Parts: sequence; C-alpha cells; structure tokens
Amino acid sequence: MTMNKLEELRQRKSKIQLGGGEKRIASQHQKGKLTARERINLLFDEGTFVELDGFIKHRCVNFGMEKVEAPGEGVVTGYGQVDGRLVYAYAQDFTVVGGSLGEMHAKKICKVQDMALKMGAPIIGLNDSGGARIQEGVDALSGYGHIFYRNTISSGVIPQITAIMGPCAGGAVYSPALTDFIFMVDKTSQMFITGPQVIKTVTGEEVSAEELGGAMTHNKTSGVAHFVAANDEACIAEIRRLIGFLPSNNMETSPIYETNDDISKIIHELDEIVPENSNKPYDMKSVIQLIADNGDFMETQQYFAQNMITGFIRINGQTVGVIANQPKVLAGCLDINASDKAGRFIRTCDAFNIPVLNIVDVPGFLPGTTQEYGGIIRHGAKMLYAYSEATVPKITLIVRKAYGGAYIGMCNKELGADMVLAWPSAEIAVMGPEGAANIIFKNDIKNSEDPQATRAEKIADYKAEFATPYKAAERGYVDDVIEPSATRPRLADALNMLASKQETRPPKKHGNVPL
Ligand code: HXC
Repeated sequence: MTMNKLEELRQRKSKIQLGGGEKRIASQHQKGKLTARERINLLFDEGTFVELDGFIKHRCVNFGMEKVEAPGEGVVTGYGQVDGRLVYAYAQDFTVVGGSLGEMHAKKICKVQDMALKMGAPIIGLNDSGGARIQEGVDALSGYGHIFYRNTISSGVIPQITAIMGPCAGGAVYSPALTDFIFMVDKTSQMFITGPQVIKTVTGEEVSAEELGGAMTHNKTSGVAHFVAANDEACIAEIRRLIGFLPSNNMETSPIYETNDDISKIIHELDEIVPENSNKPYDMKSVIQLIADNGDFMETQQYFAQNMITGFIRINGQTVGVIANQPKVLAGCLDINASDKAGRFIRTCDAFNIPVLNIVDVPGFLPGTTQEYGGIIRHGAKMLYAYSEATVPKITLIVRKAYGGAYIGMCNKELGADMVLAWPSAEIAVMGPEGAANIIFKNDIKNSEDPQATRAEKIADYKAEFATPYKAAERGYVDDVIEPSATRPRLADALNMLASKQETRPPKKHGNVPL
C-alpha cells in the first residue's frame, strides 16, 4: 500500500469526522447541544462504536445543492455496545445542512434499521434536524416513508428508542412516535407537525416553539414523550439506563442484574403505608420504591396522567413493568389519559416479555361529560384489551380500593392475572360504601326516624361486609391475602413460579385494539 493512498483515506475520514466544520460545531455547542459524534461517543461503551456509510454522498442537483458538500450526509450511523450488548444507532448531525433528511441520509438510517432487525438488537435514534431537505423534494418524503415503514415492521420485535435533541418538525415527528420510547432534552428540543409560523398564518394563534412543542409540553400535556432530561449528557445516560431494563428483542428476556438487596426482606414500613381512613391519599411511589431492588424505579411518562404510574423496577434482578394507581392524584381514578398511558405500557411490556405488576388502589372511572365526550369508553377499553391480550406473567396486588369496572380494568383474575394478592386493607366491591348504601338501603334510610344515623349505620355494615378482601378471596378471585411487610418476598416467589408461563392465543392476523 502506498503511503499516499493511506494518507488519502485518513484525510477523507477526518473530513467526515469534522461534519459541518469548526464554526458550526461551535454554534451547536453555543446552543447547549453536543454534536452527533459526541452524543454517539457517550451512548456507546468506550471505543466500541463502528461507523458505517461515512462516505455516503447526496446526489441532489437542485437549488445549488450540487455545490454543497455534506460530509456524512448529515447523519452518523453504526453500531456498538451498551453495557456489553449490541445496539444500533443513528445521530442526525445538525452541523451538516441542518441535519435535514434527504434520499441518501434516509438510506443510511434505513440500513441500520434493517441490520438492527436482522440481528435482533435495539436501535436508538438521536434526532436533531430541520426535517425534510427542502431541495430534495419528494425524494426526502420518500426517505421518511421508508423509515416509518421500518419503524412499524420492527415494532414489537426490537426495542426502538428515540431522543429528540433539537428541532423535529413536520412529518419527521412520526418516526419517533412509531418507536417505543421518546426522550426529549429540556429547552433545546421541540416536536411539532406545523410550526409557530404556519399556525400563525392559518389560525392566527401565536405560540412560541417551546410552548408549542418543547420537552415539558410533550411530557406533561400531550403525552407524546416518555422522558425529559436536563441536557444531552443526562439524556444519553438515561437511554443507557433504559436499555438495561429491556431485552434485545422479542425472543429474549431482559438481562438479569444481580442484586445485593435481600429478596426475603420484610419491610415493616409497608404495614403502615395505607392510611386508616380510606379517603386519605398517600404516595404510591413509596410502595413501588420499597418493593423494588435497591429502590430503583425508572418511571415512564412521569409528568403525564399522574393518576396512573408506569415504569420499570427489578425484583431479584429481573425487570418488572409496574402499572399502579396514584391515590395522590385524582384519587387514583382511571381517565382517558391514564388509560392510554397504561394500555400502551402494558403492550410494550408484553411485546418484550416483561412481567407486569399491577398495584391497585382505584375508586373507579372519573365521572363527567369531559370524559364521556372524550371517549373514555374507547380509551378505557385499551386497558382491558391490553391486559387480556398480554401473555407475560401478570401479578395484581390490591392494596386498597378496587371498585367496579376499574377493579377489572386494573387486571383482575378474569383478565388473566396469574396471581392476585391483596393486603388486609383491600376493599373489593362494585362500588364504594357511601354510594352503595345510598342505593341498596334507599328505602331503609328514607323510612327511618333518623335517616342520617341509619345511613351511617348502613355504610358501616356495608364496609364491614364488603369493603374487605375476604369476599373476593372466598370465591378465589384473590389467591391470597398477605401481610404488606411480606410483599417483596411474595412477589419474588410469584415471579419465580411464573417464569415458565406459556400461554397461546388463537391464530389471527392481528387483533383490533380499540384506538
Ligand atoms: C434544507 C435546511 C433545512 C431543511 C435547515 N436547513 N432545515 N436545509 N432543508 N429542511 C439548513 C439551513 O438552511 C441552514 O443552512 C442550516 O440548515 C441551519 O439552519 P438554520 O435555519 O440556520 O438554523 P436555526 O436558526 O437553528 O433554525 C433551525 C430550524 C430552521 C428551526 C430547524 O432551519 C427551520 O425552520 N428549518 C425548516 C424546518 C421545516 O419547515 N422543515 C420541513 C418540515 S416538513 P445554512 O447553509 O444557511 O447554514 C417535513 C416533512 C416531512 O419535514 C414529511 C414526512 C412525511
């Protein structure tokens, strides 16, 4: 090999490495953002990233593009290891034509999507782009179509994670929306279908980009995003953490992380956590953290539909997906957003062989015209569907209220819960004591000399008789009533027992999940 050929290779590679050049890199840093390559280096275990297609060039000759050199085509793609496991990634490079997506840029992304699917490994997309490269017209739109198609085909086969680390506009937001999890970086990322200027022209509405599609908008209001991070570094660290909870593909189970947290531990705080007065709220997150290995809980959609808690913990090193009512918010009622949040999370767990743990304290569905007109029937059905459809181990722990349809909606025995455990504080019935007494003892109360006293007496009777776990346990709807302090060992034991669970469904093309 002659020295000048080697020299040429080195020069070509270093040009690619430099992306849009020093000036644009400095401008990227000035905005508080890392470059595509800096992000990739943080994502992968040191020295494991292998870049592909660095030499790819666009072939657009419109609007002066023939003169534009775009090193790397505005996206860095390849594979490497995260905690020693194979992972694919692409990171859009805003320093090169604004990270805009043209035909060849899309081709690079599609190649790693195809490889990730073939090899059964997670794929991470780090988005930072002005969207469809305007000069490439319909070729750019075609590129997006190819990506969306692959997102869909890979759905439920390999974990797909997207981070929004800059602008993400127009139809470009739909690749992220088709993936399993979306991270956003606070203040430096936005997602919207139509930007502020278009909105102003069409509807006259004035809104800033941040207000319209910033990280908190999508984490809190729209529920589009699952996580928010303070900066690029934190975002990438959390992506690595999330990968640790997930299997590489739908044929595997999540990696086991050996724990030093005693699994037979009796946790006395759990005996005290549910207040005597059943209308008094408490923080369900404390229950989850006490049960989890080392208190480690990776909450998903932390700011959206806070009456429902979803996220990952480990018990005895094994990943478990938690779906729990939050009595602190809306008394833990199920509503449209909570149903959507839980339904989606349950299906994610089921697709990736992650057992689910349902922690129940639910007074019912939220009443009101907003909910009914918004289609709570359709949305609530998603939860019923997701639980019934799921074949992973399903464990339900009823800690307090489990009333009416919401009792079924949180995965009772009939929706296929493999193990239903209840604390002595559990109240399992068609409705709460006050409502029930008003209806079934209406005449006794009306005809009584002291209706108020009779009402109180009837409520107390109903409470003693029905607001307990024992009626349900007598019928076998509850497998056991346990001491709260023994919850962690009981859950570990149930997970162990259910590890070999096999359940098949009738063959079909796919179900018709209520949308
Ligand atoms: C071509 C683009 C581009 C694009 C940015 N650039 N977006 N080039 N196509 N879509 C270029 C700019 O011309 C500029 O080049 C460089 O990238 C950096 O952009 P700036 O505008 O200087 O950066 P900034 O001020 O930070 O603004 C970023 C931005 C803005 C908010 C993203 O560039 C913007 O509004 N871009 C257009 C966004 C958009 O409407 N995209 C189409 C969406 S529709 P120079 O050489 O001057 O530095 C869509 C359809 C997808 O994506 C459909 C899928 C089905």
